[in-house]
Amino acid sequence: EGNDRPPGNKWSFSGPFGKYDRGALQRGLKVYKEVCSSCHGLSYIAFRNLAEAGGPGYSVAQAAAFASEYKVKDGPNDAGDMFERPGRPADYFPSPFPNEQAARAANGGAAPPDLSLITKARSYGRGFPWFIFDFFTQYQEQGPDYVAAVLQGFEDKVPEGVTIPEGSYYNKYFPGHAIKMPKPLSDGQVTYDDGSPTTVAQYSKDVTTFLMWTAEPHMEARKRLGFQVFVFLIIFAGLMYFTKKKVWADSH
Ligand code: HEM
Repeated sequence: EGNDRPPGNKWSFSGPFGKYDRGALQRGLKVYKEVCSSCHGLSYIAFRNLAEAGGPGYSVAQAAAFASEYKVKDGPNDAGDMFERPGRPADYFPSPFPNEQAARAANGGAAPPDLSLITKARSYGRGFPWFIFDFFTQYQEQGPDYVAAVLQGFEDKVPEGVTIPEGSYYNKYFPGHAIKMPKPLSDGQVTYDDGSPTTVAQYSKDVTTFLMWTAEPHMEARKRLGFQVFVFLIIFAGLMYFTKKKVWADSH
């Protein structure tokens, strides 16, 4: 059975000069915290990362305040016991389940994947030799387009000919259509204080933008450096050209 192709989006981060939309990153973090984090970990991201350049744009104090809202396991202490304490900037986002077995048991046999790198893991690209064209098409957007599509792809009406097993849900964009994630988002579920629409479509785009940042937190610096390299190479090529003319001036 074929899957529908995820619709394309206009992402602020696409293209050689693309940057993350700070508002979307902050809203997406809120969606992750209030909805996704009950099942999905974000184990490569530390609270301090929220205050780094090229990210959601929080101050160090804001990141510390955000961290302190979490309970983090620590220990053993002097008595040899494990204990919980408020999160600190150096802590990583705590995972919702202690191990994979527990994650599977709570989700009908399918463990919710860690979301830190999911936008990269779902960039499918193309095989040999067509990957050449991935440089010219929107390879960077495949992962985010897919994640945003899955979040919006839950439908009550299952098309004829598709059977969904007990404990799975129909999703238009999930490979095979039967996903073990229940529809996580609904309109009005998360409050926004910047006036953005509180719709499934908006939540999906915001949390996907946030998950693009978690997968590539240094994207903006990477693109800036890439551009500087090009400028340098052009100037350097010019210098080399005139150098060559001078060095070889009487050689004919
Ligand atoms: C799978 C995102 C909320 C449980 C996934 C996948 C993504 C995702 C991208 C991977 C799909 C794939 O493998 O291609 C999100 C986001 C959420 C969210 C962004 C918040 C908006 C939840 C919640 C639960 C959950 C609240 C638990 C109640 C699962 C499970 C899977 C999954 C069990 C594995 C599905 C399977 O392999 O059949 N999620 N999720 N998710 N999610 Fe979520």
